[in-house]
Amino acid sequence: MYQRATMSHIQPFEIDLYGRSFGVLIAADQIQERVADLASQIRSDYAGRQLVVLCVLNGAFRFAADLCSHLNDSTEVVFTKVHSYEGMLSSGLVQEQLPVSSQLAGKHVLIVEDIVDTGTTLKFVMERVYQQAPASVRVATLLFKPDALLKPLQLDYVGFEIPNRFVVGYGLDYDGQGRCLNALYVLKEE
Ligand code: IMP
Repeated sequence: MYQRATMSHIQPFEIDLYGRSFGVLIAADQIQERVADLASQIRSDYAGRQLVVLCVLNGAFRFAADLCSHLNDSTEVVFTKVHSYEGMLSSGLVQEQLPVSSQLAGKHVLIVEDIVDTGTTLKFVMERVYQQAPASVRVATLLFKPDALLKPLQLDYVGFEIPNRFVVGYGLDYDGQGRCLNALYVLKEE
């Protein structure tokens, strides 16, 4: 018996999406190590407390899944889906496609985002969460672009700070493509 190598084991150094070139920014094993570190910090911070993870779709689906694989068995997971990016730019407007679950009152909520860019999406989601009077709210984001942030926001767990450049992979997309890549890729200067 043997196991065939599949596409998911391959980590190309460079990729092409819609005719644009991207190079590796953060390797897959570096992402996994950092996610495990964040999860261990979260486990210790929430020891003895029931945690609800709020995964912000679509981009955070992989980060949230990998994070949860290291968290306590009693962790609850809920979802919201918002949309603000068009192509490679923030539209500045947030469309709520799946509202935040209405069961957060009195709970300890951890909002899980793929990336905080201008901060518009996170601010919108936080307002929705606070409306339900949770016991506490914290934010975990895999990526943070400090140079793009428009409004100050409290980020409790940050995977990586990155330059203000467009990235894809590990859940993040360019017009629907790139989410399945295991590493993170940055658009090459054109
Ligand atoms: P913000 O509202 O400007 O902070 O943008 C947040 C959302 O825009 C993220 O949840 C992503 O879906 C998307 N986004 C921001 N920067 C990037 C990027 O570099 N690549 C792909 N999507 C991004």
